[in-house]
Amino acid sequence: MKISIVGGTGKLGAAIARRLAKAGEPVTIGSRSRESAEEVAAELGFAITGTDNRSAAEAGEIVFITVPFAAQDATLREIAPYLQGKIVVDTTVPLMPPKVMRVQLPPEGSAAVRAQRLLGEGVTLVSAFHNVAAHKLIKDEDVGCDILVFGDDKAAREIVVSLAGLMGLRALHGGPLANSAAAEALTSVLIFLNKAYQIDGAGVRITGVADAPLA
Ligand SMILES: NC(=O)c1ccc[n+]([C@@H]2O[C@H](COP(=O)([O-])OP(=O)(O)OC[C@H]3O[C@@H](n4cnc5c(N)ncnc54)[C@H](OP(=O)(O)O)[C@@H]3O)[C@@H](O)[C@H]2O)c1
Repeated sequence: MKISIVGGTGKLGAAIARRLAKAGEPVTIGSRSRESAEEVAAELGFAITGTDNRSAAEAGEIVFITVPFAAQDATLREIAPYLQGKIVVDTTVPLMPPKVMRVQLPPEGSAAVRAQRLLGEGVTLVSAFHNVAAHKLIKDEDVGCDILVFGDDKAAREIVVSLAGLMGLRALHGGPLANSAAAEALTSVLIFLNKAYQIDGAGVRITGVADAPLA
């Protein structure tokens, strides 16, 4: 499956792109500037290609969204026509600077539900990667945390869980898209923990699941 990452020049997008491409997946990163995307893609290596966000959205069969919350609305509106019928993996955490250590969910309940409403029912929305630090993900090391995956379509969730597995991560089904609010909120708690305990990228590990199959 062709994978595109809108906003893929950024910290999280580049890290996801690198892990997926290293695992052999065909990856294109998008940017507002095609030149920036091409530059970052060349730096990342592993045959990653770069283009503008719109072309990336059009080319991808699965499209990741990795832009700041403040840019989510405008970015999704621009590329919405190219996402219909596809799986979109939204990673947006509704952080509202300067108070990023305080949970501030949007009126829709979560950034993921907001994205689904913006894109419409023609898009299968999955949300994930809210609680993993990009600076850990970009390295060839164990990130030491789980990836929680949310979405109303179980088969689409399973595809994202499998992709995360290819990236060397343990991903777990976290339930319907409405549950994304919990992981999005948790990010502010993790940022608080980082500061309070001087941690280099706190994460979440779910106990008790080991290798249990999904019921
Ligand atoms: N960083 C992390 O550790 C982390 C972890 C979990 C979740 N997240 C979430 O993942 C998303 C991306 O985070 P990030 O840290 O990777 O963000 P980032 O590096 O600050 O930005 C990502 C990309 O978004 C594009 N962008 C920035 N401002 C924009 C604007 N006003 N309009 C349109 N595009 C804009 C930029 O690409 P171009 O300039 O090339 O267009 C940028 O490279 C956020 O929602 C964040 O909350 C981040």
